[in-house]
Amino acid sequence: MDLHETISGIRNAVSAARRAGKKIGFVPTMGYLHEGHLTLMREARKECGYVVVSIFVNPTQFGPNEDFDRYPRDLERDMQLCQSVPVDAIFHPAVAEMYPPGAGTTTVRVSGLTEGLCGASRPGHFEGVATVVTKLFNIVKPDIAYFGQKDAQQVAVIRRMALDLNMDLEIRPVPTVREPDGLALSSRNVYLSPEQRQGALVLSRSLQMARERVAAGERDMVALLGDIRAMIAAEPLANIDYVAIVDYDSLQPIERLERRGLAALAVRFGKTRLIDNCILEA
Ligand code: PAJ
Repeated sequence: MDLHETISGIRNAVSAARRAGKKIGFVPTMGYLHEGHLTLMREARKECGYVVVSIFVNPTQFGPNEDFDRYPRDLERDMQLCQSVPVDAIFHPAVAEMYPPGAGTTTVRVSGLTEGLCGASRPGHFEGVATVVTKLFNIVKPDIAYFGQKDAQQVAVIRRMALDLNMDLEIRPVPTVREPDGLALSSRNVYLSPEQRQGALVLSRSLQMARERVAAGERDMVALLGDIRAMIAAEPLANIDYVAIVDYDSLQPIERLERRGLAALAVRFGKTRLIDNCILEA
C-alpha cells in the first residue's frame, strides 16, 4: 500500500494501474476511519483491481463556526485500517496541495438538491463537497466511486452532479453501517458523552418506528413525521435541527408516500450534530 501526498504522485500510480488493465475504485473520506468507511473499501475491493482511498479534511465544506479545526485526525491508525482491507493507495494531500495559494475560485453548485435538509443549516456545505469531489474525481479518475447512504443528501447531490456534468464513472451507494444498538457509525460519535451516546439511540429507534409503520401500510407522511418528531423531542438531550420526509430523488417534502421516500434527520446532542436517515419503500 502506497501513501501519496501529491497530486502528481497519485496520478502516476493510478495511471500505471490503469495501464495494467485494472479497474479503479475510489473511496473519498475525511479520515478517522471506522467500520462504515471500511465497508465502502471492502465493496471497492470486491469490484476493482486497484482501490484508492483519499483522506482529506476538506476545509471548504465546513462553515466558519463548524468543527474543521477539531475534526478528529489519526493518519497512523487510518493507514493500518486501510492496510487491513487492503487498499492499494492512500491519497492524503495537504490543504495547500488541493487549494494552492493564489488558485482560482471555481466551484461546483448543484441547485435544487442542496438548499433543504442539511443544506439549510450548513450553507455552502454541499458546494464545498461537490467541488472537492469533482477535484478528487479529476485527480483519481475512478471507474467506480463509493459513497455511504448514511449521508443520503450527499449521495443525491453527487449522483446529480455526475449525471449533469457527464462524469464518466459510476456512483455506488452503500447501506449505512450501524453499531449493534442501532447508532449509525460516524467519526463525530467520539464527541459524545456516555449520556449523549445513550440519548442518541432515539435517532435510529425513531427511524425504525417509521419503517415499521410504513411496512404496516402507513402512507400519511405528515402524521408519521409528527410522530418521529415527538419521539425525538421526548429525549431530553436531543435538540432537533430538522426532521423531514422527502422524495428519494428530488429531496422535496412529501405528504403521501407514493414512491420511494427518505426519512432524514439532523439532531444536536450538546455541540455534536448527528445525522441519520432511512429509505421508505411504498
Ligand atoms: P466522511 O464523513 O469521512 O465519509 C466518507 C464516506 O464514508 C462517505 O461516503 C460517508 O457517507 C461514508 N460513511 C460515513 N459513515 C458511514 C456509515 N455509518 N455507514 C456507511 N457509510 C458511511 O463524507 C465525507 O467524508 C466527505 O463529505 C467527502 C465525501 C469525503 C468529501 O470531502
